[in-house]
Amino acid sequence: MTAALGPPRHLVFLGPPGVGKGTQAAELARELGIAHLSTGDLLRAAVAEGSELGRAADGHMRAGRLVPDELVVEILRDRLRRSDAAPGYILDGFPRTLAQAKALEQFAQLDAVISLELDPKVLVERLTGRRLCPQCGSVYNLATRPPREPGRCDRDYAELTLRPDDRPEAVEVRLQVYEKQTAPLLEHYRRLGLLRPLDASGTPAEVAERLRRLLRVGPGREPGPGSPKDRRSR
Ligand code: AP5
Repeated sequence: MTAALGPPRHLVFLGPPGVGKGTQAAELARELGIAHLSTGDLLRAAVAEGSELGRAADGHMRAGRLVPDELVVEILRDRLRRSDAAPGYILDGFPRTLAQAKALEQFAQLDAVISLELDPKVLVERLTGRRLCPQCGSVYNLATRPPREPGRCDRDYAELTLRPDDRPEAVEVRLQVYEKQTAPLLEHYRRLGLLRPLDASGTPAEVAERLRRLLRVGPGREPGPGSPKDRRSR
């Protein structure tokens, strides 16, 4: 991760639901010209298509549970073969279990794992306030990134929706699942010397600035309101 070698191009963003992985990954990937690969987005796209994978994943996702490892590993492995991932990638929300981390080591390399850290109370506020545009994938937050007109997308005026797993009962399950199944990965990557903790508090611009300092990339830009995250099916 030295300046002489240029910015890292094979990254994992690890952190609890709502910490801001997607928000930061979308901006950084655009800036570095690398792919932003969110397994949550890939799975939601499969659900929207009604594919076999989507039907298998849907119930798990709605309840806030993890989708079985073998399904997620396969979808990610396939996605990494596409040409836009050749210059590099940010894996957003993958791996989430030790089994996924071990599988990833068989087919991809990593330069760093960014661990986004935030007070759990703030996580809940970010998740329950999130609203999505079903047309263009723009992401809003009622508290921190509201649309210009309540309930409507700034870009295409579509009616904003709540992600099914942002209901309070599913949020609680997701936070428990993170602690039990995903948090152990922090120690795994610390041991491998890849872990880079990042304070995810403050505005998106403040977090972006810290992230760029951590990775030694150029100055960041404030993500615009409702900046799209390439999440058409959320
Ligand atoms: P996924 O889509 O990955 O959801 P998640 O990890 O729960 O993450 P989120 O998208 O909720 O949060 P985020 O950290 O990206 O935050 P965001 O930037 O959106 O996974 C969904 C489901 O798919 C899982 O529960 C599971 O079922 C399945 N799945 C996915 N991957 C899997 C895997 N590998 N294995 C098994 N199952 C898998 O921000 C959240 C909100 O906060 C937004 O409104 C945003 O505008 C706002 N915000 C962001 N940053 C800030 C800031 N700095 N200040 C104020 N507001 C902010």
